[in-house]
Amino acid sequence: LVSKEENKLTPSRKQGHVELCVGSNVTFRNRSAGFDRLHFVHNALPELDYSEIDITTSLFNKTLKVPLLISSMTGGYKEALEINTGLARAAHHFGLGIGIGSARQAMENTEFHESFRTVRREMPNGFVFSNIGAHEAATLYRQRAITELRRIIDLVEADALAIHLNPLQELMQPEGSRNFNDVLAAVESCVQTLGIPVIVKEVGAGISKEVARRLLSVGVQAIDVAGAGGTSWAGVEILRHKEEDRPYLEPFWDWGIPTIDALMQVRELKEDHSFTLIGSGGITNGLDVAKALALGADVAAIARPLIKSLMDGGEKALNTLLENIIEQMKYAMFLTGSPTVTALKQQELIYS
Ligand SMILES: Cc1cc2nc3c(=O)[nH]c(=O)nc-3n(C[C@H](O)[C@H](O)[C@H](O)COP(=O)(O)O)c2cc1C
Repeated sequence: LVSKEENKLTPSRKQGHVELCVGSNVTFRNRSAGFDRLHFVHNALPELDYSEIDITTSLFNKTLKVPLLISSMTGGYKEALEINTGLARAAHHFGLGIGIGSARQAMENTEFHESFRTVRREMPNGFVFSNIGAHEAATLYRQRAITELRRIIDLVEADALAIHLNPLQELMQPEGSRNFNDVLAAVESCVQTLGIPVIVKEVGAGISKEVARRLLSVGVQAIDVAGAGGTSWAGVEILRHKEEDRPYLEPFWDWGIPTIDALMQVRELKEDHSFTLIGSGGITNGLDVAKALALGADVAAIARPLIKSLMDGGEKALNTLLENIIEQMKYAMFLTGSPTVTALKQQELIYS
């Protein structure tokens, strides 16, 4: 799949990415995900008992206690074992779904397999999905070796496979790949041969309606817009360049489709297609989660704020953050008179 030389880079690159995400300010600078542009209509007569609000939902054939996923982040180096264990424990405790980070490293080398396996061990029945990059999937497709991906599905007994589209990140990456041919064919081949649902996600630059339409035409079961406004992966990669090389890449720091715009575009396809829509990119609190759902998402997902809280403050800090996010989401449901996630999804949002 990758040369030995390239593979040696993967564990240290992943660790470098995590450290930059936790230690540096790598969010968008002058654009937001857009949640601040939208407001719920306040309902002064909710006719609801807060204690009866039901936030359970289902994703493929599993039940989530909260309509929230921990986005794909890490695995494949020594310290990732502790991080993934902490994230998976929180996912299990709150009944969230969880994605593991790109398992490219695990396909070539068994050394850090425990850092991936721990997720399923911590949540035996929860919704877990594996992850691979578009470039790697296309390379396997050209080698007629898509079935090799079964190894990273079996590693965590994954319920689904996420394929991430990251052309901006690869362009900005000092050692990034610039060949994005055959990606759609690779996605189609995954849908046809792997026997589990395929989620296609961005990593923070968003998925447009047109791209979503092409993905749905090959049978993709879920789309995670992973829009602009939260973690800037251009930003992360720019910081990995030498200082003198950064200025010419800087104009791309804020590139992408803000999350709310991506959601509003892609949800229109629900009229003609049946698929799961995931809202993510720049979600920082439970009110954002509620707005993502009201914009058409079936579930929301969060990446950087969760790993940052775990690494800065341990499992206690992560649990407090998630507790707050869940309560905030329920506050929004109470204040809009929405007893269930289905009712919340029907609420109107206004621009102001
Ligand atoms: C530390 C870190 C590592 C990530 N690694 C991956 C990855 O391996 N695969 C992937 O699809 N996305 C990866 N992402 C992207 C996230 O899944 C998510 O799409 C993106 O960060 C936007 O969400 P956010 O604004 O909530 O951080 C990573 C994000 C972070 C913060």
